[in-house]
Amino acid sequence: MLGRIDHVALAVSDLENSLALFHEIWGLERATRERVEEQGVEEAMLALGDCSLQLVAPASEDSRLMRYLERRGEGLHHIAFRVDDIAGTLKHLKDKGVELIDDSPRSGGGGSLIAFVHPRGQNGVLIELVQRPQ
Ligand code: CO
Repeated sequence: MLGRIDHVALAVSDLENSLALFHEIWGLERATRERVEEQGVEEAMLALGDCSLQLVAPASEDSRLMRYLERRGEGLHHIAFRVDDIAGTLKHLKDKGVELIDDSPRSGGGGSLIAFVHPRGQNGVLIELVQRPQ
């Protein structure tokens, strides 16, 4: 059901600093960068082999991610797995009684569909499902 890892996301407080770190120290090229207003975050995707590293920073002081960072600090935020059939996967999870954040897929940009699974019951790890356009 799960394909490969699509991306691993880190919560960071300062996107510029973090991009500089991964660019200058680790040699990753800058890639796409996007402000997602509905989630109050600014994201950057850095290509890393056949998957990506995502950096997620709060876009404003009242961002939910800001409170997350105050509570838990910087670090691993979520792991995104590639799926072929996100609607089918969500149905399967619902049938198994898995607690979801998104009951139905929503747009993840670039034509992809995404949905988040609640970390409760997933060993404390926030999981994102990603269906890329065929
Ligand atoms: Co993500």
